[in-house]
Amino acid sequence: MFRTHTCGELRAGDAGKTVTLAGWVQRSKDLGGLLFIDLRDRYGITQLAFNMETNPALCEEAKKLGREFVVQVKGSVAERSSKNPNMPTGDIEIIAESIEILNSAITPPFTIEDETDGGDDLRMRYRYLDLRRNTVRKNLELRHRIAIETRNYLDGQQFLEVETPVLIKSTPEGARDFVVPSRMNPGQFYALPQSPQTFKQLLMVSGFDRYYQIVKCFRDEDLRADRQPEFTQIDCEMAFVEQEDILGTFEGLVRHLFKKVKGIDIPAMERMTYADAMKYYGSDKPDIRFGMKFVELNEIVQNKGFAVFDNAELVAGICAEGANSLTRKQLDELTEFVKRPQIGATGLIYCRVNEDGSLKSSVDKFFNEDELKKWAEAFGAKPGDLILVLAGTANKTRKQLNELRLEMGTRLGLRHKDNYSCHWVVDFPLLEFDEESGRYHAMHHPFTSPKPEDIHLLDSDPGAVRANAYDMVINGVEVGGGSIRIFNKELQAKMFSLLGFSPEEAQRQFGFLMNAFEYGAPPHGGIAFGFDRLCALFGGAEVIRDFIAFPKNNSGRDVMIDAPSAIHDEQLQELSIALTQSTE
Ligand code: AMO
Repeated sequence: MFRTHTCGELRAGDAGKTVTLAGWVQRSKDLGGLLFIDLRDRYGITQLAFNMETNPALCEEAKKLGREFVVQVKGSVAERSSKNPNMPTGDIEIIAESIEILNSAITPPFTIEDETDGGDDLRMRYRYLDLRRNTVRKNLELRHRIAIETRNYLDGQQFLEVETPVLIKSTPEGARDFVVPSRMNPGQFYALPQSPQTFKQLLMVSGFDRYYQIVKCFRDEDLRADRQPEFTQIDCEMAFVEQEDILGTFEGLVRHLFKKVKGIDIPAMERMTYADAMKYYGSDKPDIRFGMKFVELNEIVQNKGFAVFDNAELVAGICAEGANSLTRKQLDELTEFVKRPQIGATGLIYCRVNEDGSLKSSVDKFFNEDELKKWAEAFGAKPGDLILVLAGTANKTRKQLNELRLEMGTRLGLRHKDNYSCHWVVDFPLLEFDEESGRYHAMHHPFTSPKPEDIHLLDSDPGAVRANAYDMVINGVEVGGGSIRIFNKELQAKMFSLLGFSPEEAQRQFGFLMNAFEYGAPPHGGIAFGFDRLCALFGGAEVIRDFIAFPKNNSGRDVMIDAPSAIHDEQLQELSIALTQSTE
């Protein structure tokens, strides 16, 4: 037997037992007559004690152990004279009787500790060492727990986990596909799924009724903190349902996860229409842990001689509670913040609400105290508050104000990672117009059904048609999205034509789905959650990378295995791919 106990297990009550432990050497402390070694495994750390007087030979041997050596130790459990309350095993130590080196280790390139000295690059290159660190391991333990609880909940609701293929034909989710050449079909390519969307719909046609899959998806898109080229979805579909059924079932899933994994009771989730989300927060994924809703000021502030306001399509602002304490310098910083090219505002106008109720704005030249009072009323501002206003074209101003609102939320400490606020955004537009290509694109995907009451607008005003589509947003992160699907062949064909597909092209790309709809397709709908995002949120992080065992870096590379990489000429030849790369 390699070990009788793990390194996280022994307590004062075990004193006197003879035990065998195995693990990695975390560190050693040589006090002359005494040598202490911290032995680590996945479960914790246990202190080993070697005594120069009682067992000098063993002590000498132990001194040779370097960091990360893999060792097996036999000894007896003893209560420590000086206990360490910060460690679960801190009441005991093992008085070592024998030690066996199972494997030596060269010095790791960074310290395997919670606060490591390794930078991102180094940690990614040696990810297997990084994964030895508590913080990263705990993230993966959390991921495991969320996966188990997801399966428990969905199994309890009669969902079946069904695997769908990875070598498929391109799915139209809007990002670029990763493609795989087919040796047996020269010049032809599979695509890796951006999601199992069409397959899960086909499973509904097959009568599976409730499907789910914790599944890898692949998207060749620009990477951000919450995006990886390969990521995992909790992908779900249900038949014979309406939007309400889906929202109820999956609100249930997320509440179950919060309860079981974090012990938190999440209240019933608010619903917000897309139109309201954009009007009041300038974002389709607002962070509603805090207020600061937008207030539109056009009627109050236009035609007072201030050209910036008069020429603007929209003048809107936020009221930051208690922020009148901001200094002039801090206000200048905020102005610089909104003027950064990524945000692009031309300037920031403010109005202070002083403790005595008097008002002082950066545009006093144009607005007297009486007029500023109207501003304060519109915001419901109180003494001590600060009003911040932007002006310009409507869409841009809303986006800029969204950034400013989030920045103020952060500065005022209103976005605490342990406060969770979950809600639905519903009634997304079905289509969005793309200026570049001069045509409509599906806002969610082409299988999303329009709201029945808006179908009559499909020809006359396609941009105004709302979809039976919904997103779940937690703390300003889009954790999931889905829709009720079109299940009628004619409506699906109409949708493809609105999206600019000729009937032949639609048949070529999606014939399999439209044909399936002719064999008795039930009404159906579904949702997919970004599993990595959910894990990061539960772990209180914004970056999903550390919740994935072997992630890609920002250039989409796995620097540990060095992928992507060139392949041999013979391989290329076999795949009938022109030899355009070197294989050095
Ligand atoms: P959607 O494209 O909205 O919908 O994706 C669902 C959820 O997946 C997560 N996500 C990502 N996570 C990490 N890295 C990425 N690159 C990435 N892209 C998306 C997000 C998102 O909300 N088939 C539809 C779902 C449906 O209609 O049922 C779909 O894939 O959290």
